[in-house]
Amino acid sequence: MLEKLIEIERLGMAALESVQEETALEGWRVTHLGRNSALMQFFNGFGALDKEERPKAGQRANEVKKALEAAYQARREQVQQAELKRSLEQERLDVTLPGRGVPLGRLHPDTHILRLLYRIFAEMGFQVYRSREVESDEYNFQLLNFPVGHPARDMQDTYFIENEGRGENPLVLRTHTSPGQIRAMRAATAAHPQDPPPLRIILPGMVYRYEQVDARHETQFDQIEGLAVGTGITFSDLKGTLNCLAQRLFGQNVRTSFRASFFPFTEPSAEFDIECFQCGGKGCTVCGSGWLEIGGCGMVHPAVLSNGGYDPTRYTGFAFGLGAQRIAMLRYGISDIRYFWENDLRFLEQF
Ligand code: PHE
Repeated sequence: MLEKLIEIERLGMAALESVQEETALEGWRVTHLGRNSALMQFFNGFGALDKEERPKAGQRANEVKKALEAAYQARREQVQQAELKRSLEQERLDVTLPGRGVPLGRLHPDTHILRLLYRIFAEMGFQVYRSREVESDEYNFQLLNFPVGHPARDMQDTYFIENEGRGENPLVLRTHTSPGQIRAMRAATAAHPQDPPPLRIILPGMVYRYEQVDARHETQFDQIEGLAVGTGITFSDLKGTLNCLAQRLFGQNVRTSFRASFFPFTEPSAEFDIECFQCGGKGCTVCGSGWLEIGGCGMVHPAVLSNGGYDPTRYTGFAFGLGAQRIAMLRYGISDIRYFWENDLRFLEQF
């Protein structure tokens, strides 16, 4: 009987030795001190013992119980200490490691180039005038000398807004920033009908065309329209302005070209090209011909001046429309215009 108690104590102590974690410790407590443990069964079987045996057995059993409980408490403290130490070690901070970089947002290349262009034009005395992106056919075409059915409309494949009953004046997404010319001139001449002020403005903004998309063409892009109206303005003022812009952007030695062209709203008209960065003028997939077309320009057509309220016998003017992305491509060496609106971080993070 007493041997049984010794065995219970021996087994309990031995099992406790191998306990390493709090969950295992709880398991041990249930097995060796819980209601169904061998020790508790011994207490329950007490009644079956001889009377003389009982006091001694009771005393021993209580000793064993106390010993196991004390051992349990001691082990519990050890296990808790060990667990605390383990978790502190995991938390350890190595202050000699290099810090993690803070991710920073940055400006889109388009924003960079627009801000640069605003600054260069501001230094030449051009103010920014903003105009609407949804235009009527009248402003986008008719007042700019493209009557209904004019073949030059084919140069600008147009997105139409859903139109009910607007007849020959449907709403369109502007295909160029030139309708802003009429709006700016009309604003100036409405304020001073007798003696309208000279104008020197740029009209930046998004334009939309139903284009076949490729490395140089997108269905939407930023244009910077320029307009100067006054007395005695000539084509050499236009050339001087655009050449100065090219030099400010690409350095004194940049080569430019004015190619005779046609726009209904300018006469004479030209296309303005800058030598290609990629091939240095030989011809490649970016430029095709060795030159990258940056935009159109010309002397404001007399009919357009009078549509704006300026008397074409007193005033002359020049206008240009530049593709902001084309300029950014040249300046930053971007080989494909499609990168601009793809939102690929590998591209955007380079700026
Ligand atoms: N609006 C023309 C285009 O988008 C460009 C242009 C602007 C040409 C001003 C001449 C003068 O094609």
